[in-house]
Amino acid sequence: MLRDSFGRVATDLRVSLTDKCNLRCTYCMPPEGLDWLPSAQLLTADEIVRLVGVGVERLGITEVRYTGGEPLLRRELADIVARTAALEPRPQISLTTNGIGLARLAGPLADAGLDRVNVSLDTLDAATFKRLAHRDRHADVIAGLAAADRAGLRPVKINSVLMRGVNEHEVVPLLRWSLEQGYELRFIEQMPLDAQHGWSREAMVTADEILGLLSEAFDLTPDDREERGSAPAERFLVDGGPARVGVIGSVTRPFCGACDRVRLTADGQIRNCLFATEESDLKTALRAGATDEELAARWQAAVARKRAGHGIDDPSFLQPSRPMSAIGG
Ligand code: GTP
Ligand code: 5AD
Ligand code: SF4
Repeated sequence: MLRDSFGRVATDLRVSLTDKCNLRCTYCMPPEGLDWLPSAQLLTADEIVRLVGVGVERLGITEVRYTGGEPLLRRELADIVARTAALEPRPQISLTTNGIGLARLAGPLADAGLDRVNVSLDTLDAATFKRLAHRDRHADVIAGLAAADRAGLRPVKINSVLMRGVNEHEVVPLLRWSLEQGYELRFIEQMPLDAQHGWSREAMVTADEILGLLSEAFDLTPDDREERGSAPAERFLVDGGPARVGVIGSVTRPFCGACDRVRLTADGQIRNCLFATEESDLKTALRAGATDEELAARWQAAVARKRAGHGIDDPSFLQPSRPMSAIGG
């Protein structure tokens, strides 16, 4: 089991498959991109499956989410998913993606054993998309969402990061559209995780503001049909339900106290928190011939050191040295 000193148990493993991305969302990375990790430092598909296997078979991981950067850029993704689905006990397998390429890959990934997807979509307007992501790929994302739905990767969830003056006026249209399409939309507070260190509290659209904007058009009631548990999203029934909307207030309504996550970076480091200041190197141990027992022990020690919370409100807060795309979203 992966237990920390506050008694929280990590069961949800988020694995970054690459730090590369084919978009340049402003809240994530600069238009010119970043210095990508050299390929020799990336875990191979075999190494990923070995480490995920240690997590699932020895350490109580029950959910595996593949992320990035953009995980669809990893050619071996379907193979990695299929080998993850063959682990015992079989974990839930999900993907967080920008949706580009999903139109082609949703079917093969579902066949390989992928259970569901979360797709980032911050705007309904192609011109705003281009401004925000620095690439003209809005139509690909919309097509990717539809393909995921057809392939049964449900519930298809949408992640929308809100930015003041950019897309906050789309709160209501985004929800209306998502409801029409049958997707579960979640609005996300922007976190200080961009490579450019451009985050500011003032530019962040808060959960309270989001709920205020939504309430002008919809009747929202807290959805207590399911325990929130460790889910980052607070969910609300829209106009009495069953449709719902989520708000992920990571900054102003942190869920750190119930966190059940642990991360494996694309270069084989265990990160016990998005905002961790240290990582634990499993790749070097793995490449030096460590046994599964040894890897499991290192992993447990890394989780044991997890801090109570993200500390964004502390005067001494420092943004993590790696951006979101390198940590795994
Ligand atoms: P579901 O299980 O489908 O609800 O997935 P999820 O919401 O956990 O995953 P997803 O990858 O879609 O992440 C959505 C958003 O949740 C991210 O943009 C983050 O803002 C936030 N998030 C995910 N993991 C963490 C975390 O460990 N800490 C914090 N503070 N926020 C997180
Ligand atoms: N703050 C909040 N969410 C972010 N994401 C990327 N960068 C940030 C940030 N700085 C979101 C993406 C994606 C998910 C993995 O994280 O929109 O949906
Ligand atoms: Fe790519 Fe995701 Fe970062 Fe956007 S947020 S640039 S889609 S990794």
